[in-house]
Amino acid sequence: MIEFYCSDSKETEKVGRAIGIAAGEGDVICLGGDLGAGKTTLSRGIALAKGVNESEITSPTFAIMNVYQGSKTEIRHFDLYRLDRADELEDIGFAEYVGGTGLTIIEWADLFWEEMPEEYLQVDLANFGSGRKVTLVPHGGYYEMLCGKVEEIVNFRD
Ligand SMILES: Nc1ncnc2c1ncn2[C@@H]1O[C@H](COP(=O)(O)OP(=O)(O)OP(=O)(O)O)[C@@H](O)[C@H]1O
Ligand SMILES: [Mg+2]
Repeated sequence: MIEFYCSDSKETEKVGRAIGIAAGEGDVICLGGDLGAGKTTLSRGIALAKGVNESEITSPTFAIMNVYQGSKTEIRHFDLYRLDRADELEDIGFAEYVGGTGLTIIEWADLFWEEMPEEYLQVDLANFGSGRKVTLVPHGGYYEMLCGKVEEIVNFRD
């Protein structure tokens, strides 16, 4: 488990960029945290690091899923907030998208933890003073390694 304190949205985006630099094809990043905690901001950092155009990156709250083309990787950006039941995930073909090729980012994954794959990187965001606390919790050996890389990248860029 690794914690970062982000005093403003640029810093939240920076942690996202570090995750985007470290993460690759097939990786799954699950974001949890209250309304307005910074999930989309962090997702933007991930997508930017993958070479997605800034103007393409939006909150998928209404679309449920956005797809972005990065320079090498396709990015699928989910927001599960508006889903009520786990079987709605089936309707949108969630399981077919997650993992496999591309990089998957899931906002509001905490509403459906039991539907997430066996291994993933959990990112929890929480209000902390006027900023945010970002906690990375790896699930599985690969994601432990990924967390180590993210920590190195964030510290290197300080
Ligand atoms: N570290 C931070 N400190 C202060 N404000 C921040 C920080 N990170 C993000 N924000 C701001 O918080 C607001 C909400 O951010 P964002 O939309 O990313 O949250 P979210 O978790 O995706 O929200 P939602 O629950 O609606 O999906 C934005 O105005 C953003 O700039
Ligand atoms: Mg959001």
